[in-house]
Amino acid sequence: MMMRKSLMVVASAMVLAGSFAAKAQSDGRTVWDGTYSAAQATRGKAVYAANCAMCHGETLAGIDVAPPLVGSAFLNNWNSTTTADLFTRIHDTMPLNNPGSLGGRSVSDVEAYIFQMNGFPAGTIDLPPNPAMMGTTKILSTKP
Ligand code: HEC
Repeated sequence: MMMRKSLMVVASAMVLAGSFAAKAQSDGRTVWDGTYSAAQATRGKAVYAANCAMCHGETLAGIDVAPPLVGSAFLNNWNSTTTADLFTRIHDTMPLNNPGSLGGRSVSDVEAYIFQMNGFPAGTIDLPPNPAMMGTTKILSTKP
């Protein structure tokens, strides 16, 4: 009951703040619904080049122990998780040589780039810069 009430307070605060992104990304959404913008993916490409490419490769195909961030192996690992789960994984553990060094906006930008490279469609709004605002938007390896 307490939990429910505080969730409602948070929800109405977001609506009051006019947080369109948070509202639009509510339950039932998947990465096939356009969860990032093309401009965001372009920013993410630069973040990737500076912080990730040296280990995961220019084409995201992986190098040695650094796994691919595109294709079926990657998508199988992340299928049925959420965009928030992937955000947290990147934010808390990557870059492996300097974990936690990237701010929320850089992390969501690089996540947008990873989505673009995996063939998920762009939409009109950015992937939000923190996992709470992403709600339960799911990563699905194939279009539902
Ligand atoms: C110093 C090398 C290095 C850098 C730099 C690095 N990674 Fe990694 N990454 C790894 C290694 C090695 C693993 C696998 C072992 C592990 O998970 O710790 C990994 C795992 C991952 C995974 C999990 C993949 C899966 O299928 O489960 C993701 C996602 C990821 N990295 C994203 C990133 C992103 C995004 C960046 C840049 C912000 C980045 N990494 C920078 C080495 C690196």
